[in-house]
Amino acid sequence: MDRALVLAARGPADDANPRVGCVLLAVDGTTLGEGWHRGAGTPHAEVAAIADARAQENVTHGATAVVTLEPCAHTGRTGPCTKALRDAGIARVVYALADPGASSGGGARELATVGVDVVRGPGEQQSRELVAGWYARAARAPGRTPNPEHAPVHLVLKTATSLDGKVAAADGTSQWITGEASRAHAHTVRARTGAIIVGTGTVLADDPSLTARPGPAAQPDSAAQPDSAAQPDPAAGPDPAARTQPLRVVVGRRDVPEDARVRGSDGRFLHLRTHEPREVLAALAARGVGHAVLEGGPGLATAFLRAGLVDEIHAYLAPLHLGESGRSALADLDIATLAAAPRWRTEHVQRLGDDVLLIARRAAPGPAPGS
Ligand SMILES: NC(=O)c1ccc[n+]([C@@H]2O[C@H](COP(=O)([O-])OP(=O)(O)OC[C@H]3O[C@@H](n4cnc5c(N)ncnc54)[C@H](OP(=O)(O)O)[C@@H]3O)[C@@H](O)[C@H]2O)c1
Repeated sequence: MDRALVLAARGPADDANPRVGCVLLAVDGTTLGEGWHRGAGTPHAEVAAIADARAQENVTHGATAVVTLEPCAHTGRTGPCTKALRDAGIARVVYALADPGASSGGGARELATVGVDVVRGPGEQQSRELVAGWYARAARAPGRTPNPEHAPVHLVLKTATSLDGKVAAADGTSQWITGEASRAHAHTVRARTGAIIVGTGTVLADDPSLTARPGPAAQPDSAAQPDSAAQPDPAAGPDPAARTQPLRVVVGRRDVPEDARVRGSDGRFLHLRTHEPREVLAALAARGVGHAVLEGGPGLATAFLRAGLVDEIHAYLAPLHLGESGRSALADLDIATLAAAPRWRTEHVQRLGDDVLLIARRAAPGPAPGS
């Protein structure tokens, strides 16, 4: 599964389709073929792996398919993977993440019905990270969604704070609160997203470039959970960060200076003169972005939280205090009493040098009322 996750990470981060990897194994454990999904309209990972095995004249009959996402059971632009696996004589399927889609899901059940041995394997969290934007959309598809008006972009709120929740000192300085390992990790997340969003306040204060810096991923220490999806894949050629940069999005009515670094020279810059968070996500969705990271600052982060549009939190916490005169990570959320504060579910905790990364998510959407 580790290998399948590495293959999946080669797929495009901001595609309409999920990133999926597949390895076909013979009974003795040797690899017969490998594949990954290269984007909408191209063969799915299972089909690519079968083609790879055939190209090497390997027999797939009786083989095991290890795949990062439950094989799809529907016909879209390509045929269902369940059929491709059956036609190839695959005897066993091990998958990491269940497909929540109303039309594409159900592949595991279908395969089991025709006698394929189907088991849930490891790697669910890593696979889900790789497909975060797609997963959120699939889970909200008609028939599954409790909130059909929810924006079609999976939004991650990233904060880098002191222990007392400050994102800048009294004089506005914020570079750097967290250490090098945290910043390197944040760059691996940037490399996997379709857009990075900040407010005009952050651009005017910090003049960030908002690019995904190529370089090795931060290594979790021994106390950390494995995060193989964030590991570099030497066989993948250029580092993923060297591929198309995420869209750099600035939100706010003030002008972005002509010489601001965020403008860059690659045309991947967007200034949205609005204060309406939903408009921002709609503009991104219209450009095919399914996953975005909101990197602050406090004004914009507060607006998105208040609008209920944050799906996931990446909180990098550094062991220092900035005190009352420091700038809080958030402005007022209008929470008068503890019971009114929405709770998040911690999904991942990782030590990064002296810092700690906490990843929390909303509770997964349940079935729609009446469905
Ligand atoms: N440590 C960290 O993780 C981190 C990250 C980012 C920033 N920072 C720090 O945060 C400070 C900047 O804070 P900030 O709050 O000014 O930054 P900000 O959130 O980036 O920008 C605030 C601006 O966003 C625009 N905006 C768009 N929609 C809005 C809405 N619905 N509600 C409110 N504002 C909206 C407004 O700009 P217009 O007035 O132009 O319309 C507003 O002035 C700097 O000191 C920076 O270093 C720290």
